[in-house]
Amino acid sequence: DNKGLKDYYAGYFPMGVAVSPQVLKGPEAELIRKHFNSLTAENAMKMGPIHPEEGRYNWAPADAIVNFAQENGMRMRGHTLCWHNQTPDWLFVDKDGKTVSKEVLLQRLKAHITEVVTRYKGKIYAWDVVNEVIDDNDSKFYRDSKWYSICGEDFIAKAFQYAHEADPDALLFYNDYNTESPGKRDRIHQMVTALIDKGVPIHGIGLQGHWSIYEPSERELRFSIDKFAALGLKVQITELDVSVYPLEHSRREPRPDEPNKFTPEMEQKQITQYGMIFRVLRNYKDSVTGVTFWNVSDKHSWLDSFPVRDRKNYPLLFDQNLQPKKAYWKVVKF
Ligand code: G3I
Repeated sequence: DNKGLKDYYAGYFPMGVAVSPQVLKGPEAELIRKHFNSLTAENAMKMGPIHPEEGRYNWAPADAIVNFAQENGMRMRGHTLCWHNQTPDWLFVDKDGKTVSKEVLLQRLKAHITEVVTRYKGKIYAWDVVNEVIDDNDSKFYRDSKWYSICGEDFIAKAFQYAHEADPDALLFYNDYNTESPGKRDRIHQMVTALIDKGVPIHGIGLQGHWSIYEPSERELRFSIDKFAALGLKVQITELDVSVYPLEHSRREPRPDEPNKFTPEMEQKQITQYGMIFRVLRNYKDSVTGVTFWNVSDKHSWLDSFPVRDRKNYPLLFDQNLQPKKAYWKVVKF
């Protein structure tokens, strides 16, 4: 049949995918048009790529993705206005290379957010305003980034306020990974509760969804969605992929017993895990307002070079030849 993911889920939530301008010029473009109705720029809208020198912006790659979305009637999620990674070299230092003051850094953050959000006003319906500021370690709270060491936690609320001033209609999200890990989940919950209590314009929480065939459990997934939906926040899965290696494992050197191929056992577990994830998401269709996959197919996943090079993780619903995998049919036939 010529239905795609987005058609099967039309009554539930938009189906999105993270792309680069190169991917949109390749064979994936046809698959993207068929299966998705929302796009995220995988890298083009991050601070380093889009704002390489103070006052000089590199709009072309981001514009290419936004134009593709516009031409194909797709929504666009903005990613991301404030993150500790892929920041430009000039951001945290003044002309003599000395670390800037909190006031200067907040002025730079405001200028960046105002410029970028204004440019795409009316074309980007939701922004990942702040990304990954909560530490993974249960003995800590905020991630010890340059943002945090220079500003303390104030940059978080300010980022949301700047984005809201630039586009009052955009939905503003906090985005993070490992949101099913109880300690981190509680810290995120505590932070967003405080932001809401202060009247900060935050509308949603992005559960990135970098998961594996072993985690999360259905229980932890349901608990995470319940917890954040109970705050009145929209919940989105913003970076979904399901690695064939356990998450802890996929972040370190491969073990000798590891088969660097997609075995039948891996496929069976992946079918079961994707089936569970989408069954739960369909049950939560009133709280879950979007699902975005991170990358298009097993032909290219960020996981295949992170942090171990050339180890395939086979994390998506389309195989290396852009064909639907068995897990795809498990997700669409419900
Ligand atoms: O564009 C440069 C290129 O000019 C240069 O030659 C090359 C070699 O250094 O690097 C290229 O930049 C790379 C960029 O991807 C574009 O390909 C960076 O090194 C590389 O670090 C970057 O990786 C991205 C990663 O975020 C780090 O920013 C991945 O593609 C991207 O999938 C990943 O996505 C993140 C989300 O934004 C946030 N959540 C986690 C997720 C996975 O880490």
